Amino acid sequence: MAARRKLIAGNWKMNCLRAEGLALVGELSRRLESAKDPVFDMLVCPPATLVAPVADALKGGKLAVGGQDCHAKEKGAHTGDVSAPMLKDLGCTAVIVGHSERRQDHGETDAVVKAKATAVHVAHMTAIICVGETEAERDAGKAEDVVAGQLRGSIPQGSSAANTVIAYEPVWAIGTGRTPTNDDIAAMHAMIRRTLDGLVAHPESVRILYGGSVKPSNAVEIMALADVDGALVGGASLKADDFWAIAESC
Ligand code: G3P
Repeated sequence: MAARRKLIAGNWKMNCLRAEGLALVGELSRRLESAKDPVFDMLVCPPATLVAPVADALKGGKLAVGGQDCHAKEKGAHTGDVSAPMLKDLGCTAVIVGHSERRQDHGETDAVVKAKATAVHVAHMTAIICVGETEAERDAGKAEDVVAGQLRGSIPQGSSAANTVIAYEPVWAIGTGRTPTNDDIAAMHAMIRRTLDGLVAHPESVRILYGGSVKPSNAVEIMALADVDGALVGGASLKADDFWAIAESC
């Protein structure tokens, strides 16, 4: 099996003013630069307002910066939106697309997510494509079908481990303190990898992150599961100690 390096990504969502965000990345970057041979990559995805100052502060270092979303178009009359080339221009290396909060709050369909992921690829960045079932879908026994459908609908042609990461985030586990059982996470990640066969080149090399109430107290066991190649962390990514402890659990 191809070796997959773990990725610990922080999704700050709509949090942090400038001083807070800069203090957070200052601390994380200090720890990452002084870590001896870290076995993980680390990424922070600040709100659009902080991408520029954070990217400037981290320039040339190991801590990478990403966007939380982008428009599918390169430019044009789209008030309030940010394009993939704009994020690339600031120093981003990755963009989250299809987060369930975007799918729910902004009605983003798989087709929209696919168009955004394509824009990220065209701008030479990595698309972190999020998928995940609702609680009702899991209760109805449809979790795997829903996630497989999202993968088929959201992954652009030409995707590979070089430009694509999948994040499995069960909607009901986000910000709730609840997580699936380890067996359920492992089963879903295995299903995702099987489904990637035919959708991406070399599916065995694609990183599949787990997201949803990851914290220092559950990170060790989740990160040790087969086919879990890192985490997409929300709340716990806003505290340097917690986010660092999650990374160190790899
Ligand atoms: O994208 C990360 C996310 O949705 C998980 O959030 O706060 O449950 O870690 P949280």
